[in-house]
Amino acid sequence: MKEEITITIDGVEIKTKTGEFILRAALNAGIYIPHLCFHPDLPPHGSCRVCTVKVNGRHMASCTTPAEDGMVITSDDAELLDLRKAVIEMLFVEGNHFCMFCEMSGKCELQAVAYRLGILVPRYPNLFPQREVDASHPDVMLDHNRCILCGRCVRASDEKDGKHVFELMERGAKTRLGVDAENNLGETNLSIDDKALDVCPVGALLIKDTAYRIPIGERQYDKTPVGSQHKGNK
Ligand code: FES
Repeated sequence: MKEEITITIDGVEIKTKTGEFILRAALNAGIYIPHLCFHPDLPPHGSCRVCTVKVNGRHMASCTTPAEDGMVITSDDAELLDLRKAVIEMLFVEGNHFCMFCEMSGKCELQAVAYRLGILVPRYPNLFPQREVDASHPDVMLDHNRCILCGRCVRASDEKDGKHVFELMERGAKTRLGVDAENNLGETNLSIDDKALDVCPVGALLIKDTAYRIPIGERQYDKTPVGSQHKGNK
């Protein structure tokens, strides 16, 4: 049986269970730590580093670091805020994210975290990569321009849908989202109700003909900032 332990986040003591990941423990206690590749229904990936905190002074990804009794965690300080902003800004410039023209605007977690952190202009130059849009599937569009390689769709397709439709291919700057088919998404067994579509945090996987069912201005993050159900803590 898991033992109850106490950890401290930004001076606030919370109770959790041994081995619970710090991010989950924080969210369960009502403390928001920004995150992007993490999704509560999926195993953690630890790839985006937006959730980085200091554990006893050392930088760690909170989504993959198990809590231990007595841990002292810093999430809300100027250095971590700047680090998180830098990561989000890099994600913006290395893809093609044009929020004003994107049908996910107001529902996009990348946009929402950027607003929450107060990002106005990225400090890095835009790379404007040439990326494809795969509209071969009858119900779903895959836009590589907006993919942030968080791996949520990969994990959801594997673990929840049991299909393995998606895969992160190649490494480093060449990493891209691949599909389990010779040519394109239309050749896979992806279906419209797959969890993989539901967990995409951006506009990389879009269900066709649904774009403006919820009008701009009435969407989730148009009304309340991401994490606003939790207390403080950037
Ligand atoms: Fe923890 Fe992405 S949310 S590394």
